[in-house]
Amino acid sequence: MDTTIGYDLSEAARLLQAGELVAIPTETVYGLAANALNPDAVAKVFEAKQRPSFDPLIVHIPSAASLEKYADKIPETALKLASVFWPGPLTLLLPKQEVIPALVTSGLDTVAIRVPSHPVAAALLKMLEFPLAAPSANLFGQVSPTRALHVKAQLEGRIPYIIEGGDCEVGVESTIIGFPEGSLPTVYRLGGVPAEEIEATIGPVLVQSHSSSNPLAPGMLKSHYSPRKPLLIADGPSDHRNEAVYLRFSDYLPGIPETRQLVLSRKADLREAAKNLFDFIRQLDASPAAVIVAELLPETGLGRAVNDRLRRAAVRE
Ligand code: TXA
Ligand code: MG
Repeated sequence: MDTTIGYDLSEAARLLQAGELVAIPTETVYGLAANALNPDAVAKVFEAKQRPSFDPLIVHIPSAASLEKYADKIPETALKLASVFWPGPLTLLLPKQEVIPALVTSGLDTVAIRVPSHPVAAALLKMLEFPLAAPSANLFGQVSPTRALHVKAQLEGRIPYIIEGGDCEVGVESTIIGFPEGSLPTVYRLGGVPAEEIEATIGPVLVQSHSSSNPLAPGMLKSHYSPRKPLLIADGPSDHRNEAVYLRFSDYLPGIPETRQLVLSRKADLREAAKNLFDFIRQLDASPAAVIVAELLPETGLGRAVNDRLRRAAVRE
């Protein structure tokens, strides 16, 4: 199968209607989209990504107005979050409606839903009569794509079409929050909406970040975002000094050639750092060095989401 990169939304819509896959830009990362209501199309997503079927997908809808078609028993706190953060990088875990196929949710009775803000994703969703199930458009377990060419590098020949939508602005995936009964709202994945902003909107939440524990829910895998080279976390030069390349937050390590280092944000801006993260990991992974040594960011705002990705990238299976 030939893989085309283009700007043709009508062609993308035609392919999706026919049950084919299309990679789409979102504000977080590129997604690998299929008609969420068509189990055969959804099955192709798992196949193309080599993703195990126990790892459920996020359903993308055009606006909060269609939320009730796909989710049931929506708590007030969820509606509040939707009104503040949609369109945007926040995913709500809610009891699913019948119409969502079991394959999308891996048999769970909850469905993950979000409204993306990227203008191309938004325009495409408005053209369609169905929502889009879309995981990140990478091979399972590997680094997420923030450019159309990142998608092509991993999925060439496996999908017919990639919509070119430029660099993703947020650069880390959406924050995932659920509303378990008898407990505080729980963040299951730190992401594009910082936990602090959620708390400022609905009060205290639990953060059950999967980087520090075993998977608690399907897909909350400890090892993820893996480059091919080992990634170590350290804030100084490593013992591998001569074989290492460095991912830095805001400054170069003294005593190491700058050509062996990438700095996520010279002005120490967490947003800029998150936006550059996956692209810089790919660049370092493509260098001849043996290992990547990454420095953690301040544990605040988007820094927490970035650190979560780095910690999981550091876990080898
Ligand atoms: O920003 C994003 O969320 C991107 C863009 C494309 O929207 N999508 C994305 O999808 O990151 P993916 O498949 O790479 O990550 C989805 C995560 C997985 O960890 C999955 O296990 C979890 O969401 N998930 C989906 N449905 C769930 C459910 N019903 N219960 C628990 N976790 C769920
Ligand atoms: Mg992913």
